[in-house]
Amino acid sequence: MNINERLIRLFEQKEGEFVSGEELSATLSCSRTAIWKHVEKLRSEGYVFEAVSRKGYRLLEKPDKLEPELIGRMLKTELLGRPVHYYEQLGSTQTLAHELAREGAPEGTLVIAERQTAGRGRMGRKWHSPKGKGLWMSMVLKPRIPLQFAPQLTLLVAVALCRAIRQVTSLPAGIKWPNDLLIGGKKISGILSESISEDEHPLYVIVGVGISANLREDDYTEELKAVATSLQIESGKPVDRMELLCRFLEELESLYALFHQQGFGPIKLLWEALSVSLNRRVRNQTANGLIEGTAIGLDDSGALTVRLDDGTETKWYSGTIEFPPLSSQ
Ligand code: BTN
Repeated sequence: MNINERLIRLFEQKEGEFVSGEELSATLSCSRTAIWKHVEKLRSEGYVFEAVSRKGYRLLEKPDKLEPELIGRMLKTELLGRPVHYYEQLGSTQTLAHELAREGAPEGTLVIAERQTAGRGRMGRKWHSPKGKGLWMSMVLKPRIPLQFAPQLTLLVAVALCRAIRQVTSLPAGIKWPNDLLIGGKKISGILSESISEDEHPLYVIVGVGISANLREDDYTEELKAVATSLQIESGKPVDRMELLCRFLEELESLYALFHQQGFGPIKLLWEALSVSLNRRVRNQTANGLIEGTAIGLDDSGALTVRLDDGTETKWYSGTIEFPPLSSQ
């Protein structure tokens, strides 16, 4: 850890208290002039300090930018987010991550943008990605699994995301099959997983994740407001995007390792525990028309098992489920 990193760690431990120049220079074994220079450097990166004579400095605000230098400083992963490609604006992080992977980017490469002008969702939908308000990112994974298990990876990402959101915000996020995250029935996050394969094995998978972190009511159109929400709207306060990003990548890295060691079994249990789809009436537009039943679990491949009203069971491998209104149940 360099001096700037140690300085930030120290201020974070003191949580808003003043730390004297004397204590800083003794703890970090450098002169008070050197401390002043480091504080100035951090200020130039967006940290806000209050300096009061005879009291010292206290940290008031951390920068709300996702710059790679800051990510590198906070992130505790070995694989994911190494390296980070950061942009103020991009069409879609997904498109750039595909290009990088095609050119041989290593597993774990992360593309993140403050704003997307052409964010993509599942089923050709648009993804609303206003500047500085969310986490809009795509990452390159190279899972060592047969292609038919690729959907399990998306379920795994949803588990990591749900756990990270719960830990950082204490909000009761839940997973709607296959991988939407909801709070109070409204969407706060989505995952778009795209595999490029050869001989029935994925060469790479681009996992795109959008988290609506700090959008306010007026960042949404009326149409979106009815179905989507943000962590800030739900909790009443802004979320620290950097903390959420790091927590998510760390959760994902440990679940990804578990998946390669023990297969889908443990991930399936975690997914089921965080699901808001199970034991509920669900319906899905399939090739055979609109089908309705009760979701009863995931099978070992990651498909949703649904009990139909005639007692038979069916499996859904893809799609977007709806929860029918109570009146039609
Ligand atoms: C969905 O729920 O439909 C999936 C949404 C995925 C959105 C993310 S935002 C970052 C990445 N870049 C994109 O263009 N899409 C994904």
